Amino acid sequence: MEYDAVMRLALERGFYFPSGGAYADAHAGFWEYGPAGAGLKNRFVELWRREMVRRGSMMEIDGSQVMPRSVFEASGHLGGFADPITRCQECGATHRADRLASEASGRDVPERAEPAEIDKAIAEAGARCPGCGGGLGPVERFNMMFGVGIGPDGGEAYLRPETCQSIFVDFPRIFKTMRGRLPLGIAQVGKSFRNEIAPRQSLLRLREFYQAEIEVFCNPARMGEAPDLGEVAGVRLRIQDGDSVREVACGEAAESGLVPCRLIAYYMGLLASFYEKTGIDPGRCRFRRLGDKEKAFYAEAAYDFEVEVSSGWLELVACNYRGSHDLAGHASGTGEKFEVMDGEERVLPHVFEISMGIDRSLYAILEHCLREDPDHERTVLSLPPYLAPVQVGVLSLVKKDGLREKTDDVYSGLKRGFGAFLDHSGAIGRRYRRLDEAGAPLAVTVDHQTLKDGTVTIRQRDSMKQERVPLEGLAGVIGRMVAYP
Ligand code: GLY
Repeated sequence: MEYDAVMRLALERGFYFPSGGAYADAHAGFWEYGPAGAGLKNRFVELWRREMVRRGSMMEIDGSQVMPRSVFEASGHLGGFADPITRCQECGATHRADRLASEASGRDVPERAEPAEIDKAIAEAGARCPGCGGGLGPVERFNMMFGVGIGPDGGEAYLRPETCQSIFVDFPRIFKTMRGRLPLGIAQVGKSFRNEIAPRQSLLRLREFYQAEIEVFCNPARMGEAPDLGEVAGVRLRIQDGDSVREVACGEAAESGLVPCRLIAYYMGLLASFYEKTGIDPGRCRFRRLGDKEKAFYAEAAYDFEVEVSSGWLELVACNYRGSHDLAGHASGTGEKFEVMDGEERVLPHVFEISMGIDRSLYAILEHCLREDPDHERTVLSLPPYLAPVQVGVLSLVKKDGLREKTDDVYSGLKRGFGAFLDHSGAIGRRYRRLDEAGAPLAVTVDHQTLKDGTVTIRQRDSMKQERVPLEGLAGVIGRMVAYP
């Protein structure tokens, strides 16, 4: 499906919309989830907890969104978390310089290229301001953190640009109080903030966004070990290799050296297995190893997990080997010890990170699951049932003859256990189509026979098949149909 069709669905069915409503000073890059979007996001996060956090025996924390300046001095963000920017010398508009240079030159100019290199690419391609055609000023680096003033005296702090810094700062305390052992995965889900130069395409590049991050602390001398690798050994990994994508089982990728070590292979397997359950087409996903100029400043090595959408390949997850960058930085920033015991050995753990963009993932799910069904003149959002914000529509065939009251009773019996939506109004066919488009996998309809024999119909969204089931035990039947795999 195309971007515009997803956007229409998002606006018309309450998935997401721009923040600030009709106010003229609303800024780009801020979007809000409506009831359908919030429901989808919550279920996605629950799936992540189930398939990544609990399956991987990790711990989850919930840290602060505002952190002091010294945290970001130690992490390197104050010095290094900056995108290349150029300003039009005529109209003053600012642009992401690497993107402008890439578009004008037709070749990839990486965001971490030196400003002089980007200047040269812009000059050679003859790029001008896309807004007014004016000449462009020298490329500089623009730090993307939002500063905030704390209290009446405006103490210096920043909104976190990634959720994980509190995981690093808190690591020794968590390791000690929770009796941790390496390798230890610590997870966190929440908002991060980046003052993007050019936010675009709704959920694809936001200034305020959700991340689900996992930091795996490990002994660098024992990266060749991954006791649970067998659990994901059969998961298929699609790995970019030169110009083609190689599909190999996770276990084989680890043994053959296609992935650097067994520990990283295990987490890649866990991640690929998670995404297989989201409704995103696994055949349109890949891991891609990043070049030196594409990696974040803290990464020693990095793989992106990418998905193909209508606008091209989109990064959903950054898998970064951050080495000792963060713990060494916070040890020197605080003067505290960040080493821990691994058996008899005292080590400063290294970190492998699995940093997931939630908003982009939700976009990709919507784009891959949305389809037209011209034979039945309907648009269908084929979400996996356990991700659907509305799991069951509850409909009266007609409102009269006591069917409305009976339907209200059925709805009351279901609404605490499921995402249920009650609908009495309009032609029944139109109500089914609205539910199909909202992604509801099931619709329960109360009709005249219900009053006689206590049965209702259950209609399945994808097959449109209907079957009669007794009201008694209905919640159990629905529960099985929308259960996690
Ligand atoms: N923590 C990695 C990232 O935010 O991209």
